[in-house]
Amino acid sequence: MNVLITGGIGYIGSHTCVQLIKSGHTPVIIDNLCNSKASVLQRIEQLTGHKPTFYNGDVRDAALLDKIFAEHRIDSVIHFAALKAVGESVNKPLEYYDNNIHGSLTLVDAMRRAGVKNFIFSSSATVYGDQPITPYVETMETRRPSSPYGNSKLIIEQCLEDIQKAQPDMSVALLRYFNPVGAHSSGLMGEDPQGIPNNLMPFIAQVAVGRRECLSIFGNDYPTPDGTCVRDYIHVVDVADGHVAALNKVTNHPGTYVYNLGAGFGYSVLDVVNAFSKACGKPVPYQFAPRRGGDLASYWADSTKAANELGWQVKLNLDDMCADTWRWQSMNPQGYPDE
Ligand code: NAD
Ligand code: WQD
Repeated sequence: MNVLITGGIGYIGSHTCVQLIKSGHTPVIIDNLCNSKASVLQRIEQLTGHKPTFYNGDVRDAALLDKIFAEHRIDSVIHFAALKAVGESVNKPLEYYDNNIHGSLTLVDAMRRAGVKNFIFSSSATVYGDQPITPYVETMETRRPSSPYGNSKLIIEQCLEDIQKAQPDMSVALLRYFNPVGAHSSGLMGEDPQGIPNNLMPFIAQVAVGRRECLSIFGNDYPTPDGTCVRDYIHVVDVADGHVAALNKVTNHPGTYVYNLGAGFGYSVLDVVNAFSKACGKPVPYQFAPRRGGDLASYWADSTKAANELGWQVKLNLDDMCADTWRWQSMNPQGYPDE
């Protein structure tokens, strides 16, 4: 299948391109490089022997999308392109709603013009909002997330459901990721945040490699076994494989499908720090700091539905996530090269 991958140069998109190529698919990428570097393409080629066609552009550019759909017989679209920094979105809601919602709608409209009917969307566990019930299961009601970022994901999910109802020959998969971490086992691809990392695993990795002095653990008085927050960390290659499985399931099976992509169990911040210390062979310095606004104490996925319907389940564990992150970070201490 020819698959248009928006945001395919980014963290999850690049790993998904590799897994798609290995499964016999042909990705075509559009990415505006606002949070990634084009040198990722060489790494995809190194790993697969195939360099995807790449359009350096914005998903809000309808004319460019028309050109891409005219130049390639695209069967399906996987839509990763978005802004994703939760804290930044609170200060820049307009940018987030414009990029994420306007971007998604422009893309779906171009698909309609081109007659492309299969769409897979990068959603997030954030759409469950603040609910004291775990694990989160797809049958639960969604709740308005506290950040504009999270809200943009919920709004897009709702728009897509309405659009699919009005265009009943469309297939839409809403994939709700929990906490994707880790890197390709080769050490050639991984997460390369620009500036100070917002997320736990890349911050730990940068401390371990000497780019930062000490990890601040946000809160140690949560109602969890060790007082630090509990999350469902999932290896990025398992997330990528979830997309391949979803593509096989939904393509040409009209409807809207919702799947959690999580490992199905939770680890605390201290569990992750300890596992990473084991992986890199040295202690990761940390200090306890006040809670971070907006953090929930504990949640993880019920991933039964994806297992039953997609035949997908995670293959990699927390030790793999840490070992692969460390291999990537130690082989590429400054991330991807500029060119
Ligand atoms: P990322 O920032 O590494 O990748 C996103 C890519 O999209 C980047 O390469 C960026 O340059 C590109 N992009 C952004 N806006 C664009 C636009 N308007 N036009 C074209 N390209 C654009 O992020 P990621 O971690 O790979 O996340 C991918 C998707 O998964 C996002 O939609 C994100 O919201 C979602 N998601 C991520 C996580 C996570 O923890 N990483 C969790 C849940 C959901
Ligand atoms: C994990 C835990 C922090 C950094 C975010 C988004 C979510 C989804 C996945 C996109 C928390 C703690 C972190 C640090 C720390 N993304 N932490 N020190 O917040 O669970 O989820 O990414 O959709 O929507 O909110 O992930 O990695 O930021 O935090 O103690 O320097 O690590 O408090 O408990 P989070 P995270």
